[in-house]
Amino acid sequence: MSAARAHDLVLFGATGYTGRLVAERLAHAPGALRWALAGRDRAKLEAIRAELAKDVPACAALPILVGDATSASDMAAIAAATKVVCTTVGPYTKYGSELVGACARAGTDYCDLTGETPWIRQMIDAHHETAVKSGARIDHCCGFDSIPSDLGVLLLQEEMKRRTGHPAAKVTAFFGESRGKFSGGTFASMLGMIDAAAVDPEIRKSLGRPYALDPDPRHQGPDGSDAKGVGYDRDLRAFTAPFVMAAINTRIVRRSHALAGYPWPDFSYREVMSFPRSARGLAIATGITGALAGFLVATRIPALRAQLLKRMPAPGEGPTPEERARGYYVVRIVGERDGDRLVVRVSDKADPGYGSTSKMLSQAALCLAQDHLPTGGGVLTPASAMGFRLIERLRAVGLTFEVDR
Ligand SMILES: NC(=O)c1ccc[n+]([C@@H]2O[C@H](COP(=O)([O-])OP(=O)(O)OC[C@H]3O[C@@H](n4cnc5c(N)ncnc54)[C@H](OP(=O)(O)O)[C@@H]3O)[C@@H](O)[C@H]2O)c1
Repeated sequence: MSAARAHDLVLFGATGYTGRLVAERLAHAPGALRWALAGRDRAKLEAIRAELAKDVPACAALPILVGDATSASDMAAIAAATKVVCTTVGPYTKYGSELVGACARAGTDYCDLTGETPWIRQMIDAHHETAVKSGARIDHCCGFDSIPSDLGVLLLQEEMKRRTGHPAAKVTAFFGESRGKFSGGTFASMLGMIDAAAVDPEIRKSLGRPYALDPDPRHQGPDGSDAKGVGYDRDLRAFTAPFVMAAINTRIVRRSHALAGYPWPDFSYREVMSFPRSARGLAIATGITGALAGFLVATRIPALRAQLLKRMPAPGEGPTPEERARGYYVVRIVGERDGDRLVVRVSDKADPGYGSTSKMLSQAALCLAQDHLPTGGGVLTPASAMGFRLIERLRAVGLTFEVDR
């Protein structure tokens, strides 16, 4: 069926802040790739194509597809024209549903950058079975949330089994060593989710469930709620604070475990930020915990919200190329069982949200389009859909996935 399709890959949202970065990466992808630019505004897409062609002349011939994300017929036409859709059109809660449904029905593979847990739950409930039948691999969270967590845990467990004969039971990911800013689209997505949770008790319930993305969201396991306050980790000898992305990453890691059939006995997973064991480390952990709570309060008070909106980037805006170039991150994932301990380090010398995320999303899209993957269809995760093949691809573009004892 897919051999008859006009394109291998369509990038939807190529005119946005993150979409442009992904387009630049795809333009430099090695090998033959029949790809196209898509969005809602032809003139803007033509301008992006002309920019790309300055660097890579072959891009002057890139086909352009025009469609509005809220139109079911436009999304069906895009899904039918390609083997894979890669989308940066967000907030996904607002703009993403028609495209996921169209891809699930058409048997078209799909990847995105959402971090919106309640929306992913809706997509699982509405389209998982359809995607299983059509063979469409629907892969959410193919950026900084949640690829380092999801693929890092996969690597840790495989290596732990190889070295000790059993997988880790308690796994913790420590974030915090990083530099990067966020874009208008990310801010709009975060605000959209906070606003929806404020008025809808079902969404609040979904956000609070540790296994919200398991096939059965009421699944009972060893994990409870995400970290809420400042803590101290004896093994790492570090102060810890809540990590804002834990609410999505932990659910994706647990869904990967669930889709594999729960192979790791007593598996428990959490994410925190970590800071050095010093007065300064404690001050930063305390400051971050307070800032997070303050941000949530500010979104609910009209005068403070207006100030917040003024200071945050607007849609289409984000960090400058210089700011992106100064970015980096290191994530340490620590696994333990019965005295055995293993550490996986995931890192990149690029800012997490855009420099590194554009590598991750473009490689996920290329992996779906070009690699032989044994996985069937469904609403999947990076680990369950692409696993080690994607780790290899990411290593080749500069990410580090290293095992340490
Ligand atoms: N998970 C991660 O690590 C990560 C990292 C980065 C970004 N993100 C997510 O990626 C998304 C995009 O962020 P961004 O900063 O790149 O956003 P952005 O600059 O605002 O771009 C949004 C894109 O969506 C398009 N769009 C908006 N409404 C549309 C519609 N009705 N039909 C078709 N296209 C439409 C815009 O087209 P126009 O140009 O025509 O307006 C633009 O191309 C956000 O949801 C963000 O949270 C996630």
